Amino acid sequence: MRVEPLAAHHPRDRFTSGVPALDRYFRAQAGQDARKHLAASFVLVDGTDQVLGYYTLSASSILLTELPDTITKRLPRYPLIPAILLGRLAVDQGQQGKGLGRFLLADALHRACRSDIAAFAVIVDAKDDAAAGFYRREGFQPFTDRPLKLFLPMATIRSLFA
Ligand SMILES: CC(C)(COP(=O)(O)OP(=O)(O)OC[C@H]1O[C@@H](n2cnc3c(N)ncnc32)[C@H](O)[C@@H]1OP(=O)(O)O)[C@@H](O)C(=O)NCCC(=O)NCCS
Repeated sequence: MRVEPLAAHHPRDRFTSGVPALDRYFRAQAGQDARKHLAASFVLVDGTDQVLGYYTLSASSILLTELPDTITKRLPRYPLIPAILLGRLAVDQGQQGKGLGRFLLADALHRACRSDIAAFAVIVDAKDDAAAGFYRREGFQPFTDRPLKLFLPMATIRSLFA
C-alpha cells in the first residue's frame, strides 16, 4: 500500500465510503479541484492501484476569535491565523475498521508538517458527531462554540513526528 497524489490512472468509479457526498466528490470533483489548485487529493492504493481511501488538503485560515482563550492568549492579535484544511477523509467501506483511516490521518498530518509554509494548525470540518469523535480521539480539539469544527496545533503535530 502507498499514498500518492490523485492521478488520471486511479480508478474512481467504484470508491464507496458510505457517505454519498464524499463519494460524489471523489468521483466527479477531486480531479478538477486538483487541476485548479483548489484542493490536493491524496489516495491510498493497494498493489493493483485500487483506491482504498483518500484525503484532501488545502490552504485555509482561522478567525482568531474562533480559537479558545487558552490558545489566543499566546498569539499576536492577527485577525486571521494561517491553517491547513483537511477537507475530506474517507476509507472504502470494505476496508473500514482496519486502521486505514488513522493511517491516512497520520499521513495527512505528516504531509502538512513537512511543508515549509507556516500554518498554525490543521483544521477539519467533521460531518457529524461520530466523525468529530474520530478526530477527537486522535487529539483534535473543537473550536469555541463549534463542536464539529476541530483543530490540532502544528506544534503538537511536529512533536508527534519528532
Ligand atoms: C471515519 C473513517 C475515515 C475512519 O476510517 P477507518 O479506517 O474505518 O478507521 P480506523 O480503523 O482507522 O479506526 C480509527 C479509530 O477511529 C474509530 N472510528 C472509526 N470510524 C469511526 C466513525 N465513523 N466515528 C467515530 N469513530 C470511528 C475506530 O473505532 C478507531 O478507534 P479505536 O482504535 O479507539 O477503536 C471511515 O470510517 C470513513 O471513511 N467513514 C465514512 C466517511 C467519514 O465519515 N469521514 C469522516 C470525515 S468528516
